[in-house]
Amino acid sequence: MAASKAWAATVLNLLLTYVAVLIARGVRFLGPASGNQACGEIGAGRMWEPNLLAASLLEPPVNAGLLNGVNLLITAGPTRERIDPVRYLTNRSSGKMGFAVAAAAREAGAHVTLVSGPVQVPTPAGVTRINVESAREMYAAVHRHIADADVFIAAAAVADYQPVKVAKQKIKKDSGAMKLDLEPAPDIVKSVADMAKRPLVVGFAAETNDVEQNARAKLKRKNLDMIAANDVCHSKAFDCDDNALLVLWRGGQQELPRAPKSELAAALAALIARRFAESRLAPGRASVPA
Ligand code: PMT
Repeated sequence: MAASKAWAATVLNLLLTYVAVLIARGVRFLGPASGNQACGEIGAGRMWEPNLLAASLLEPPVNAGLLNGVNLLITAGPTRERIDPVRYLTNRSSGKMGFAVAAAAREAGAHVTLVSGPVQVPTPAGVTRINVESAREMYAAVHRHIADADVFIAAAAVADYQPVKVAKQKIKKDSGAMKLDLEPAPDIVKSVADMAKRPLVVGFAAETNDVEQNARAKLKRKNLDMIAANDVCHSKAFDCDDNALLVLWRGGQQELPRAPKSELAAALAALIARRFAESRLAPGRASVPA
């Protein structure tokens, strides 16, 4: 009995993994519906009614065409800053938020290049992915592709500091305290926003307090066109499947309440598409911070 339960759990886990991979590749799942089932149980497990299935298949995906032909470069995930051959400094980013935005932008018609730190998330369908490890590598990859970008989104949790020196051999444990010298890592999003000919630049702000105030300060200090702020206290944004965002730009803001990251990403892609269209109509306006 215990063995068959374990077997069923393994099969279920496998199926859920396949479903996650298929969704990431752009497959839409319709259903299941809830109600009376053939086995006599009541709950989720029924096929959708044929008329509902037919209507959903005819519906275009959300945001279809909003970013048609736009070249979009996005960063996602954490960076790793090496200390020695076996140790590094990193953070809790899973890449889920940035990958969801990449998928939503692709679905909206953009050509998407995704520069990703080390993560376990599958690459969304139709997205070109470049893997990097450190902030320096992410900076270099971004600047290799930025000339072609119409929109740049910085969703990665990039290190603010990196070790001054990487030890060639494993640092040995000593009896006393250890001192690690750190220097500022390159600020990728600011370096893009400061370019003379720049794309529309969208940053993220990971805050643990005074979310709106700190995000407004970052929008200005980093010279961004738009910023999506999230409260990262108590595992509310890092490495989970849902999030909540406060999106700020010059003369406007939009609260996106807690929802699955895929839904937030679609809403954010729509806001970005609007700002991008406005910046094309009145060049220079979108780049003035709030
Ligand atoms: O990956 P998940 O687990 O899904 O979690 C999502 C997230 C919390 C990582 C994401 O929603 C998020 O907030 N990303 C930005 C994290 C961050 O580094 O925020 P920050 O407030 O420290 O940085 C502000 C902006 O500067 C960000 O756009 C960041 O990408 C950029 N930055 C920061 C440092 C640096 N050296 N270079 C940068 O470009």
